[in-house]
Amino acid sequence: NGGAPDAKNLRVKLVLLGDSGVGKSCIVLRFVRGQFDPTSKVTVGASFLSQTIALQDSTTVKFEIWDTAGQERYAALAPLYYRGAAVAVIVYDITSSESFTKAQYWVKELQKHGSPDIVMALVGNKADLQDSREVPAQDGIDYAEKNGMFFIETSAKTADNINQLFEEIAKRLP
Ligand code: GTP
Ligand code: MG
Repeated sequence: NGGAPDAKNLRVKLVLLGDSGVGKSCIVLRFVRGQFDPTSKVTVGASFLSQTIALQDSTTVKFEIWDTAGQERYAALAPLYYRGAAVAVIVYDITSSESFTKAQYWVKELQKHGSPDIVMALVGNKADLQDSREVPAQDGIDYAEKNGMFFIETSAKTADNINQLFEEIAKRLP
C-alpha cells in the first residue's frame, strides 16, 4: 500500500464488558465520534460500532466493537459477544468499588471461557471524578498486573486517555 514495508491492515473483534453505568457506551462514543453524552441511555442487548486507527508504521487497525449491556438481566448474552473476540476491554468506574468487584468477575469469566490468546485491558473510567474516587489507581494496577492485563484510567467525559486506550491495545495485538 506504499506504506512501510511491514505495514498491515488488521481487523479486530473487540468486546466491552462491565457493570451497568460504568461508561462503556460513552467510551465507545468518544472513541468513534469524539462526543460525550451526559444523558447516555442504558444499552439493551448490545450495540455494534467500528472505528479504524492508523499506527506509526502505517499499519491500520479496524476495531469491530461490541458494546455489551451491563445490566444483570443481559449477563447471559455476554458469551455471544466475547466468544471469538481478540480483545476484551473490561471497564469499571473509579467511583464505585462494586463495579471494580464486577470487573474482576468478568476477568475470571473470560479466563475460563474466552479465547485463550485474548488480549485483555482493564479500564478505570470516570477519572475526572477524583473527589468521589473509591478505587485507588494502585488497586487497578496491581490486579491488572497479576492477571497479565493492560491497565489504564480514562475519562469519556474529558476524553482523557481514550485514544491511548485503543492505541495501546493495537500495539499489543499478536
Ligand atoms: P450499560 O449500557 O447499562 O451497560 O451502561 P454503560 O456502561 O454503557 O454506561 P454509559 O456509557 O451509558 O454511562 C453511564 C453514565 O455515566 C452516563 O450518565 C454518562 O454520562 C456517565 N459517564 C460515562 N463516562 C463518564 C466519565 O468518564 N465521566 C463522568 N463524569 N461521567 C461519565
Ligand atoms: Mg451502554
